[in-house]
Formats: sequence, C-alpha cells, structure tokens
Amino acid sequence: MNLKKQIRKEITIDHLNVVIYEQPKVMADNASDFVEKNIKEAINKSGFANILLATGSSQFLFLEALRNKEIDWKKITVFHLDEYKDISPNHPASFRKYLKDRILSFVNPKKVYFLNGDAADCEKEMKEYEQILINHPIDIACIGIGENGHIAFNDPYEADFNDRDQVKLVNLDEACRRQQFTEGWFPYFDDVPRQALTLTIPAILNSKVISCVVPDQRKSKAVYDTLNGKINTSCPASILRTHSRSRLFLDQFSASRLDF
Ligand code: GLP
Repeated sequence: MNLKKQIRKEITIDHLNVVIYEQPKVMADNASDFVEKNIKEAINKSGFANILLATGSSQFLFLEALRNKEIDWKKITVFHLDEYKDISPNHPASFRKYLKDRILSFVNPKKVYFLNGDAADCEKEMKEYEQILINHPIDIACIGIGENGHIAFNDPYEADFNDRDQVKLVNLDEACRRQQFTEGWFPYFDDVPRQALTLTIPAILNSKVISCVVPDQRKSKAVYDTLNGKINTSCPASILRTHSRSRLFLDQFSASRLDF
C-alpha cells in the first residue's frame, strides 16, 4: 500500500492549500516530500536553499522524516523561528537544543544561524538576526501552529500582521506557557519563561513557500479558527490564508472539527 496516497481530503481556502491525512506519520512523510521538493527546486535554481524550521512536539515526526531524505545539506542554510528569552542552549526546552537533537546532529548544513535567546544584548542579537534574514530570503518555511493559534511565538493579539521588524521580543500568553508546561518541557508552570524572541508574522510570510504541519486533537480548535474565522490576530495562523504558496498538513485528529 502506498502510504503517500492516503489523502483523506484536499481543499483550498483563500490561498491556503489544506491537505488532510488519516495518520500523523503519513501526514509527516508527505510534508517532508513537499519540503524536499521545494528545497531541491531552490538548489537547482540558485545553487543553495535557505530554510526556516519550527520546533515543538508537533514537529517531531516531520523532522524525523526530513532528516532521512536524500538532500544535499551542504547547500542549505538553516534558520529557526523563535527562542525563549534568557534560556541556556543546554536547557531541555531550548529550541537550539531541540534543533541539534532532532535534526542538526543528523545532517550537516552549510550554515546554521541560531537565535540566541540568552544573548547579553538582546536588542543587538535581534537586529543582527534580522539583517542576516534580510540577506538570506527564505525559500521554504516549515512551521507549526500552537494550541492558541500562534505561529512562531506570535500569540493572539500580540501578533502584528504589519510588523515592521523581522524579529522581536514578545510576552507569552498564559495558554502558550501552559502548553509548554503540560508537554513536559518545564518542571513547574512558573519555570516557563514569560518572554521570547520570535520572527514576526511578516518575516514568516516573506518566505517563498510555507509548509505548516499540525497534527493532534489538541490543535483542532486552532485549526478550525485558522480556516473558518476572520483573518485577524485573534488567531494569528489565519494569516496563512493570504500566502499564495502555503500548504497546511493536517491529520484526522487536528482536522476533526472541520465540516468539509
Ligand atoms: C511553538 C514553537 C514554534 C512552533 C509552534 C507550534 O511554541 N515556539 O516554533 O511553530 O509553537 O509548535 P508546538 O505546538 O508543537 O509547540
């Protein structure tokens, strides 16, 4: 049986192409095929590719599939979406550690640019990351959606669709912090940082292609709001509907509230 063919439903909402699979593993394999294809197209065209990676437990299966692809990682520059303010890169919840553990220790990219949440001069760190991003237009962004509908750490109402910055310091809302605690990244709720450095919504939308991977029942409300609500910051992920080359990968669980 060809697992790749197990699409349950495909629909385009505004500009966003939505593909629903039965099982999370099949969803992740298909998302990795899509990302591989876009990376290879960028390399064929320009000789290199710039990619943006999300972190979080929703990305486990996708990154496992991606790291097993035959991709010429020596031609790839890697960026990531966000990092907690003042967290050490060795903390179990650090997104830099996550990337090292889940993909970078398996592949050998040309260059990785880490967003150092614990930089002594946070403003300088963000300005430098912003400049590097401007110099490296992203070919494909691999993102997720949080339980509260955020993309990167742009939480509801904190998100700004017209942000002039590419990277900024944000306050994390209670739902976002609670998700991180419940997933076990921090021993106590109070340990979850209250602030983070994040790419802004315009920085993410500047990417030529966006692949958004969202498994799990826990995300079903955020997915419903992304696709059915108004495009506004009450659900930051709703902005994905305005991107002309974006694809949302769902499993039957995250898609369970959709009525199509
Ligand atoms: C997380 C991370 C992002 C990720 C998103 C969804 O909090 N900060 O990098 O794209 O939110 O991931 P998850 O719900 O798996 O944590």
